[in-house]
Amino acid sequence: DTVDWDPEDAEKGSYDHYMLKEIHEQPVALRQTLHGRIDGDDVALEEFPPGSFDDVDRVQFVACGTSYHAALYGEWLLSKDGVDATTYIASEYAASPAPVDEDTLVVGVTQSGETADTLEALESARERGARTLALTNVIGSTAARTCDDALFIRAGPEIGVAATKTFSSQVATLVLLAERLVRDITGSPTSDHADRLDALASLPEHVESITTDSRAADISQRCLGDNGHFFIGRGNAFPVALEGALKFKEITYGHAEGFAAGELKHGPLALVTPETPVIAIGTGHDEARLKSNVTESRTRGAPVIAIAPRTASDLADVAEEFLPVPATHPDLVAILANVQLQLIAYHAANAMERSIDKPRNLAKSVTVE
Ligand code: AGP
Repeated sequence: DTVDWDPEDAEKGSYDHYMLKEIHEQPVALRQTLHGRIDGDDVALEEFPPGSFDDVDRVQFVACGTSYHAALYGEWLLSKDGVDATTYIASEYAASPAPVDEDTLVVGVTQSGETADTLEALESARERGARTLALTNVIGSTAARTCDDALFIRAGPEIGVAATKTFSSQVATLVLLAERLVRDITGSPTSDHADRLDALASLPEHVESITTDSRAADISQRCLGDNGHFFIGRGNAFPVALEGALKFKEITYGHAEGFAAGELKHGPLALVTPETPVIAIGTGHDEARLKSNVTESRTRGAPVIAIAPRTASDLADVAEEFLPVPATHPDLVAILANVQLQLIAYHAANAMERSIDKPRNLAKSVTVE
């Protein structure tokens, strides 16, 4: 007798899809990511004791897709504390590489450690004398083996093609790495380091409060239309707006775009109508400008869903729907907002009966250039 049984299905446990399982695994993944790496108001990165980056004078990130968005978040963290940092789409960097020297640290952000475009960009940096570092989930991956150094995100295996828990763990690892880099390069800790590291230690429980109690499934029913879906944010919420849009298009096949909120009025506003949901991501910091972007969208009739800390009552007042996230350090809020965006994309795709774990035309690891 044959049994129609797929071992992969067994591992999903009570979840319908790996993606949902992996969204819910984020508190555990983040605990692993952070385990032993926060030491009071400093970081304790085993591989990188203080002084490891004394010779570095600038940082270049190379990455693709979701990892590119995590890298943009890392760039934002470094830039605000005075480190020269730039993020490149790996395939573009490989084709026209930015100048490097031996004081340039080129960080390849790659969950799998096998993405051909990212490996090629790292190779180009290495050949030209830069120091390379792989920020990856996979020990023994090509990126980990071929870079000068590796820093592991420790998120555990991710099966769903849509990256979820690895994004959260990448950004958490970048917060840790940024602390080491800023201290080594500028000679001072990051501004607000004690509060930020405290908040980082609480990130797993903050994510847990979203995965156990979110209205995202209800709200996602507003995002089933055939028109565009626009994701907007400022500062560290901008890469998360890009990530929210990528996740949405990847698994729903609906059109979605992420914008820096300030760019809306420079063109995309022409697309905003009562048929185009706008998802606005607030960090609870300097919210007045985002509020005016939300108002601009509402004036054109767009349904606006705001995601922000519970305390950001201003946004709740102007948006049609409000999805709260726990109040935490503003540098980390966007990681929490992203979990709500993962849930919106998941539940919208599920309502549309999409192939969530294996979207059409996509592979988990893109090993061709
Ligand atoms: C994310 O949901 C995508 N599947 C994709 O953008 C992915 O992040 C990209 O291909 C990079 O993969 P990597 O992190 O393994 O290098």
